Amino acid sequence: MENKRKVSLSGIQPSGKITLGNYLGSIKNWVDIQDSDEYDNRYCVVDLHAITVRQDPDDLREQTYQLFAQLMAAGLDPDKCILFIQSHVQGHPELSWILSCFTMFGELSRMTQFKDKSQRHADNINAGLFTYPVLMAADILIYDADIIPVGEDQRQHVELARDIAIRFNNRFPGSFVVPEAYIPKEGAKIMSLQDPSRKMSKSDTNENSFILVMDPPEAIVKKMKRAVTDSDARVAASPDKPGVTNLMHIYAAATGKSFAEIEAEFEGKGYGVFKPAVADAVVELLRPLREKSLELLKDKAYLEDVMAKGAEKARAITDAKVRQIYDKLGFIARR
Ligand code: TRP
Repeated sequence: MENKRKVSLSGIQPSGKITLGNYLGSIKNWVDIQDSDEYDNRYCVVDLHAITVRQDPDDLREQTYQLFAQLMAAGLDPDKCILFIQSHVQGHPELSWILSCFTMFGELSRMTQFKDKSQRHADNINAGLFTYPVLMAADILIYDADIIPVGEDQRQHVELARDIAIRFNNRFPGSFVVPEAYIPKEGAKIMSLQDPSRKMSKSDTNENSFILVMDPPEAIVKKMKRAVTDSDARVAASPDKPGVTNLMHIYAAATGKSFAEIEAEFEGKGYGVFKPAVADAVVELLRPLREKSLELLKDKAYLEDVMAKGAEKARAITDAKVRQIYDKLGFIARR
């Protein structure tokens, strides 16, 4: 037990395509954590979560392949982490049911994502949308995960997973590790290119507001050109220059340069020089990712093989955990 490494776990939905914001805000952190060699890593594509809003089955399947390929292309290495598809590991929904009996209706009613989504999908406020955070708690607790690298918008869900773990542990001591959200500093939050007060989101109706990991270079250049900036033409970060500040965040993330270095580099140069430089940096950042993804997507049988191996490793952990929890609850052991 003494030498047991801490566990990092996260998940990402295969609904729609991956943006530069998803990459810099989540996936890149997972890769960094994996490469730090300090944690045991488990990352999954959460297709069960995706169906809480209506999905076209063919699109869902295709997006799941794409996302899986992109995760690999970004550097998640199936030899260094357990990379899998959520629906391939039955323990997740099994534990979710158990945990739902330890989650209060009132707690779920307070989830801001539920409130937002029930407004956006007012014609389909299904029970899955409501219990979504319980399944997420199961994703986390089933691996005894210590850190959950997510964006700020998922903090409340991780807090709920903590509360559920603590409640369950009070009744059945030592059942679950109590997880902690692991949220990168502000710098990684990439905003919309059209409205820098909002997060960059693939569900935005304006395609110019986001950059997709799979966007070809021409599209990136075009979207950057159209990105909103601020009235004075100085390249400087400040709260009253949210457009330029956002582009500086992107440029900083893509090049590793500090804000001070960027301000010096574009001193007296204006947006006409700055925007193409940001576009270039993003093109180069995403190029290997896009090329590797396209390469991987040519061989779906190989991707399915990687998925199957990941699920098998995951099930070795989760089957044992589910048995343990079932036993604590008083279920007769299944054979
Ligand atoms: N709810 C998360 C999101 O929308 C995705 C997710 C599902 C997740 N299960 C998880 C994230 C477990 C971290 C851990 O971003």
